[in-house]
Amino acid sequence: MPLILETERLLLKQASTKFAALTQEFHLRNREHLDGWGPDYGEDFFTLEGQYRRLRTVMQATRAAHRLELWLFKKEEKVVIGKVNFFDIRRAALQSCVLGYQMAAEETNKGYITEALAEAIRHMFEVQKLHRIEANIMPGNARSLRVVEKLGFQPEGIRKKYLKINGVWEDHIPMVLINDGV
Ligand SMILES: CC(C)(COP(=O)(O)OP(=O)(O)OC[C@H]1O[C@@H](n2cnc3c(N)ncnc32)[C@H](O)[C@@H]1OP(=O)(O)O)[C@@H](O)C(=O)NCCC(=O)NCCS
Repeated sequence: MPLILETERLLLKQASTKFAALTQEFHLRNREHLDGWGPDYGEDFFTLEGQYRRLRTVMQATRAAHRLELWLFKKEEKVVIGKVNFFDIRRAALQSCVLGYQMAAEETNKGYITEALAEAIRHMFEVQKLHRIEANIMPGNARSLRVVEKLGFQPEGIRKKYLKINGVWEDHIPMVLINDGV
């Protein structure tokens, strides 16, 4: 059964190829808003086929226990408003993963991503028993830094020229949350 998590206002649904039209619509609608804060997407990414192929790859990675991607829906609506993405899940002595997230432009500053992350992180810590979650954030992304600060993440220095964003290798701050319960 695909995972569905619930918060006061949202449903967080595990990525599926059946969402391809919805995720394409989300990325087309928010192309400008998301541009410059994550990896550079090629044109194929914005096609229905590109989204279908991407979601198929995500589903394979989830079956292999390397990734969990959750798409965010308001309870009363069928429109996707955002995404929370746990990837590079490592087991053995690490028990860690990397976190990414995005919120639709018209829904920002309403607390939605913080609400979704609080529940998704609870799942990763309490159910999946991870020990460490890391979000890498550009120093200039004040909104994103504020989101993880609210959730208790702590900075661990700086990763120099860590990710290529719009053709430039940008520094990132690794913001980390530790689960002391495992
Ligand atoms: C970062 C992002 C996910 C935040 O989503 P959101 O739904 O607006 O987040 P929330 O409403 O839960 O919280 C936003 C917080 O940032 C604060 N904020 C907003 N604009 C800000 C700014 N320019 N500087 C500092 N803080 C700011 C808000 O006041 C709020 O904090 P508060 O609750 O203490 O008032 C969204 O802006 C986004 O998708 N950005 C583009 C993609 C991106 O940057 N992803 C993360 C990559 S690391």
